[in-house]
Amino acid sequence: MSGALRSTTALAAAIALGMLAAAAAAAAAGPAPVQARGGRVHDEPLRPQFHFTPARNWMNDPNGLVHVDGEYHLFYQYNPQGETWGHMSWGHAVSRDLVHWRELPVAIPEDPQYMIFSGSIVVDEGNTSGFGAPGSTPLVAIFTGAEPRTGGRQNQQLAFSTDRGRTWTKYAGNPVLDLGIGNFRDPKVFWYGPGKRWVMAAVLAARHQVALFGSPDLKHWTHLSDFGPAGAADGAWECPDLFPLPVNGDPATVRWVLKVDVFESSVVPGSGAQFFVGRFDGTTFAAEPSAGEAAAGSAATAVNPIDYGRDFYAAASWAHLPDAQRHVWIAWMSNHEYARLTPTSPWRGAMTLPRDVSLRSEDGGWRLVQSPVRELASLRGRRVRIPAGRLDGAVRRLALRRGAGNTVELQAQFSAAEAGDFGIRVHVGAGQSTQIGYDRARGELYVDRSRSGSLPTAEFAARSAAPLVLHGGRLKLDIWVDRSSVEVFADDGERVLTEQVFPAPGSDGIELFARDGSVRIESLDVWEIDENARRAADAR
Ligand code: FRU
Repeated sequence: MSGALRSTTALAAAIALGMLAAAAAAAAAGPAPVQARGGRVHDEPLRPQFHFTPARNWMNDPNGLVHVDGEYHLFYQYNPQGETWGHMSWGHAVSRDLVHWRELPVAIPEDPQYMIFSGSIVVDEGNTSGFGAPGSTPLVAIFTGAEPRTGGRQNQQLAFSTDRGRTWTKYAGNPVLDLGIGNFRDPKVFWYGPGKRWVMAAVLAARHQVALFGSPDLKHWTHLSDFGPAGAADGAWECPDLFPLPVNGDPATVRWVLKVDVFESSVVPGSGAQFFVGRFDGTTFAAEPSAGEAAAGSAATAVNPIDYGRDFYAAASWAHLPDAQRHVWIAWMSNHEYARLTPTSPWRGAMTLPRDVSLRSEDGGWRLVQSPVRELASLRGRRVRIPAGRLDGAVRRLALRRGAGNTVELQAQFSAAEAGDFGIRVHVGAGQSTQIGYDRARGELYVDRSRSGSLPTAEFAARSAAPLVLHGGRLKLDIWVDRSSVEVFADDGERVLTEQVFPAPGSDGIELFARDGSVRIESLDVWEIDENARRAADAR
């Protein structure tokens, strides 16, 4: 790169050039409404374009994620009757690439006695359950039956499908695990090869515990052990997930990750997710400090948030992936504190982007690293590239086609940070913006949505922050903006912040800023999300 291009002037010029190009391009009108199944328009101003949302009604947790016969299944907590929580059933969508989703009819409806709460699905390859027919491997869903009354009984139940998840039969012998109590829910089941049995992790929510059970056939369960209270144990524990990962990519060193969500917790305000790392011997999970923590003598169960934003909850992982080396999960992109008040209609609730998950052990402790799945690259359309240059004081507006700035991916690399505060503002409009910045004095990466647009509650007007050390004054950001959400992946997913925002329709500007000093823009690429790729997302 030439010296000239490194200058601030060059950066300004590049942005101005982009503006001209954009002005020409903008002569074409904004994106045409996207037609979906039955002529439905999937183009409401706040409707996510590349995150899954149901066409209508309320959605929360992802459930029963499984890959089978070339399809990724996404089931989810769904109210078929309205835009607030209730009548919980399992909604259903499928995808062939983790990017484009097709919504299918409700898979498992509530019944008169029980709502259908969260749970998982296994591919019962050995037909241990006996639900299979000759030549067909059954999918078995394990979920919580929840009596609708407050404090009602919660027990674990089964349903099975032998037609690629299209239709489900509830097991006549339900429930299969009933402790006669409430607050016992969210079974995550997996096959534990060395022990040749199924293992279930479910929460005793009010006791801040994950209870483990074992079964040969999914129908008969025996108690194995309990984990907790530990970490953040100040709210109700929900939605456990337990899975092995190689440490620092080394298949010879494997540790188990236990993810637990906490409702009304201190992990993040409202509801948030934490993780523990340790060993699982088929019966007991024991948390373990990372090498760095052990040296420092700190507790094995320090609070480890997974996502420092407010809108990442109830993550669940895909079972039976074709690439056994991958671990992919997705979460509900909302927060129980205000989920019922978000200003979207006729739907309420979105999923995050699907993310590859990996585990690193570093001086500061364990890191659960999340990066958007590579399949999302198919969404990249026109690219605006800003050459390197220094940015100081002034705010720089990027040039994008009209309407494009609210569905983009941005990849930025900053270096030689001297500014006290620097970063990127998205969803910029009259008096509005969502600010993604790095505060050097505090050593924090943050997302400030206090002026992001419509604020469903006073608490929503918040600044979320993650501790982050700049190595050599450098910061790498991958930011996905989708009409009513912002996901920020810093330093290749070492730190993540996920936030909903509800900007006015015209608030689609993007700006760079640096305060109290300068920072070098090493590179900045902005990809408009391709209209055709998006449209395919809706070819339901
Ligand atoms: C988490 C949760 C789960 C429960 C489900 C009910 O968001 O509260 O514990 O199974 O939602 O919809």
